[in-house]
Amino acid sequence: MEVIIKETPEQMARLGAELIAEVVRRKPKCVLGLATGSTPVSTYRELIRMHKNEGLDFSRATTFNLDEYVGLAHEHDQSYHFFMWENLFKQINVNPKNVHVPDGMAKDIPAFCRWYEEQIVKAGGIDLQLLGIGSNGHIAFNEPGSSLGSRTRVKTLDERTRADNARFFKSMNEVPKYAITMGIGTIMDARQLLLLASGAGKAEAIQKTCEGPITAMVPATIVQLHPKAVIVTDKAAAVKLTREYPAEPRVLVLQ
Ligand code: F6R
Repeated sequence: MEVIIKETPEQMARLGAELIAEVVRRKPKCVLGLATGSTPVSTYRELIRMHKNEGLDFSRATTFNLDEYVGLAHEHDQSYHFFMWENLFKQINVNPKNVHVPDGMAKDIPAFCRWYEEQIVKAGGIDLQLLGIGSNGHIAFNEPGSSLGSRTRVKTLDERTRADNARFFKSMNEVPKYAITMGIGTIMDARQLLLLASGAGKAEAIQKTCEGPITAMVPATIVQLHPKAVIVTDKAAAVKLTREYPAEPRVLVLQ
């Protein structure tokens, strides 16, 4: 696991985008696992810039998103479908047929989750999975206590997660209680992981993830077991780390 600390959130976002772009350039038919939330927005902005100014080509790429709220229609402005189209898909040349976001309106959620897992396998597996991290150490919506071997399924959101995400809704009551999420096992099957974290609110979770024991109580700690994982943080998210980490990748880990 490689931990890289950048000075600012902008630098974190730029390195994140460069690492993703490298995968797309080397393997145009790549399968990208994508995340939502505040953290990846500036990384997506940089990817859009690379597409527009440098011709970064997503036309053969396939994408799978980590998660989606249950009960939010695709057009709902807080659904992750909406988020992904607004913040990335609309502005790059990805083929809409190759885009996958879990369907929070699925009538039969367990059947949908099985189908989602099958689609990932059919696409050849995920080459690079982008991750954010919750202040409670969740990855995707695998909340503390989630099975470290879990697969795509419905999860009840932690009250802490609902409170963290309430900023996007009019009131706490509107924050969904359930989400469909890739499991930790699903995420760990990706060939490479790229976890981004920015801001002081993530400092404790990042310290545990990088330096703590592996535990289901901090799901992101599982990343320590992945043979090809990179964590890029800004300075604020790194303040509780006790060891020295570089500001540049030591080796070009993602390919
Ligand atoms: C979203 C996701 C979540 C977020 C996490 C951090 O697809 O998987 O795990 O990455 O909640 O969210 P932000 O970036 O808003 O702090």
